[in-house]
Amino acid sequence: MASPRGQWSGKLGFILAAAGSAVGLGNLWKFPYITHQNEGGAFVLVYIAAVALVGLPIMMAEIILGRRGGLNPVGTFRTLAEGRAGGRAWQAVGFMGVAAGFIILSYYSVVAGWTLRYIVLAVGGQLGELAARPHALDEFFGAYAADGGAQVLGHALFMGATMAAVLFGVKAGIERVATVLMPLLFLILIGLAVYAATTDGFGEAMAFLFDPDFGALTLRSVLEALGQAFFSLSLGMGAILTYGSYMRKQDSIPLSALQISALDTLVGLLACVIMFSIIFTFGLEVTASAGILFTTLPAVFYQLPGGGVLAAGFYILVAFAALTSTISLLEVVSSYAIDELRWSRRQATLTMGGGIFVFGVLNALSLGANGPLSTLNVFGEGKDGMFNTLDFLAANWLLPVGGLLIALFAGWVLAARESWDEVRQGHPGGAALFAGWRFLIRFVAPLAVGAIIFSVIFLGMEYQ
Ligand code: TRP
Repeated sequence: MASPRGQWSGKLGFILAAAGSAVGLGNLWKFPYITHQNEGGAFVLVYIAAVALVGLPIMMAEIILGRRGGLNPVGTFRTLAEGRAGGRAWQAVGFMGVAAGFIILSYYSVVAGWTLRYIVLAVGGQLGELAARPHALDEFFGAYAADGGAQVLGHALFMGATMAAVLFGVKAGIERVATVLMPLLFLILIGLAVYAATTDGFGEAMAFLFDPDFGALTLRSVLEALGQAFFSLSLGMGAILTYGSYMRKQDSIPLSALQISALDTLVGLLACVIMFSIIFTFGLEVTASAGILFTTLPAVFYQLPGGGVLAAGFYILVAFAALTSTISLLEVVSSYAIDELRWSRRQATLTMGGGIFVFGVLNALSLGANGPLSTLNVFGEGKDGMFNTLDFLAANWLLPVGGLLIALFAGWVLAARESWDEVRQGHPGGAALFAGWRFLIRFVAPLAVGAIIFSVIFLGMEYQ
């Protein structure tokens, strides 16, 4: 029964690969930061509601479309839309997804490359020395970001690792990497969380996260929770759709979507527990940049016993999480070339990965190394440079618009009997559950995502 395109070896393979895609820099850096900014408790509840009411149904929609279409996002939309309202125009959603994958990977890989540098620093002991001198971590980070050669090197190494995994294909590459790295990631995360539980700031951290103060909630934080849910769950560009196209028919779509979303949310919450325990223990200020991950946190690690081991473990964790995410981004682009352009996996991965690397060099040089690239500005204040420009474009436009169109297609264009036929396979007897999904995907998800897009246009708000 094995498809020539490749297939997960089983239920667990799909779940680990998709959870690997979802769990990434979005959970470990962005989620703690915006949770802090939105004052914890109530925001956490709203985030969980956003995952359950919007994220989960769109994730189910992507898996349903992917498994039914059995192709990359472009091919899936072309096949499923044939003879329906909109017809071939729906392919554009697929193209937008492939383009978003290309763009996101070209800058995500640069940040991912930083983790490699910091693993080396931690293992070699230099990070401890930097942490011991006031401002040395900040100065190091600033100089490192502006060092074009070092930025390109990290980006190259990370793209190399990503391409190597994708080259081996669905089962022998992507699934195998996720099967090894994801359990290790959970182990490190749980280790760090247990450690956090012994710090003085743990109680305050738990209260901050789980004792809601609804007075702190604003419309902006509600919409921000929704945008974060999108990025964190890897939705809106066909990454989960592509992974769904390798899923076996006998595996349950609702159950898988639930498990992936729950794992992703759990990792975000654990990251908060770890970081806030440390932050409250030392009464630190949380600043608004990549800084927290690479300047604030290392300083604190070295105030704790075993700081070198903690720091190394932490950056290895971030690198693992990032790698399984970059793999999913490249797989979307590669699968497009494999299915649509009829390239071999080798040719697709090397050419597309190479193209993303070359394009990404511009991002690597846009953090200070190159003047014009670092200062170009399309989206206004705080969005200087190619890197920030592309991140803004992807997170604020491509993903929400893609997600809205995916929800509309799955809810309104695909007939109910078709989506039911897909859900039923692997989850017989889930009629009530299916009816619930249909309601969420037709009404709740489009309205909520529409609200995000509306707010970006008319209120000038930002989501990543
Ligand atoms: N979800 C990942 C994170 O939180 C990033 C990511 C991987 C992603 N693939 C994606 C985001 C596809 C949007 C779409 O870091």
